[in-house]
Amino acid sequence: MNGTHLRLGVNIDHVATVRNARGGRHPDPVRAAAVAIAAGADGITAHLREDRRHIVDDDIVRLKAEIAKPLNLEMAATREMVAIARKVRPHAACLVPERRAERTTEGGLDAAGQRESLRVAVSELGAAGIRVALFIAAEPAQIEAAAAIGSPVIEIHTGAWCEALVAGDRRTAGDEFARIARGAASATAAGLEVHAGHGLDFASAEEIARLAEIVELNIGHFLIGEAIFDGLAGAVGRMRTAMDRGRATIERVAPRNLPRNSPGIVP
Ligand code: PXP
Repeated sequence: MNGTHLRLGVNIDHVATVRNARGGRHPDPVRAAAVAIAAGADGITAHLREDRRHIVDDDIVRLKAEIAKPLNLEMAATREMVAIARKVRPHAACLVPERRAERTTEGGLDAAGQRESLRVAVSELGAAGIRVALFIAAEPAQIEAAAAIGSPVIEIHTGAWCEALVAGDRRTAGDEFARIARGAASATAAGLEVHAGHGLDFASAEEIARLAEIVELNIGHFLIGEAIFDGLAGAVGRMRTAMDRGRATIERVAPRNLPRNSPGIVP
């Protein structure tokens, strides 16, 4: 790995979304984190939301204890979340805006409008040894505010750019990419470390990787969705094998319980 290595943080929130749909333990986001790390992820990102709709407190504790790479906790800058972060001590914390009704983190933080409250959260987290990032749009006022607040890192919100790409709106996509590039350059010049994320897929990740100032991408929804297509065939194949193995022993185990003339037993 050389100095230009672009770190990949894999966000495993939506493994927990699937798990929570049944309320059980499967699929376990900590197992997904281990798979992601084995496949080359440089870190794991998880968002503990106020409503605990996907990741829950115990996931964060287990991730911190069990994964072999840095944990990046996405969180709102609330008293509750700051207290949790100070207790669990993830490697990093990314402060994000949070509204209950939103489906995902829809916009960046208004760092310029919330300097005082963010300054407190950033300094408390920093004092606990946690590397703090502010999730902001690539706008000069937000970048300037992030530097003034004392956050060592910003994460640029790439959602608007990715949406324009997916919609085929090349003009907006071009404008948004230029805005991200300008923001990354000015933030780096101001001494901030620059990450980026939201809505990235294979094509947009490849494109944004061209911006040398960006040192880390955090990617979740697309990867977990894509894992269905990459992994479903293998899972169905293993299920077929397991069922066939069970059927191969049926005569020996309980021959008298078999229904007569069952077409499923004798091929
Ligand atoms: N970075 C931040 C700060 C986020 O809030 C999110 C969404 O949880 C991501 C990155 C990942 O976005 P996506 O799931 O769209 O890849």
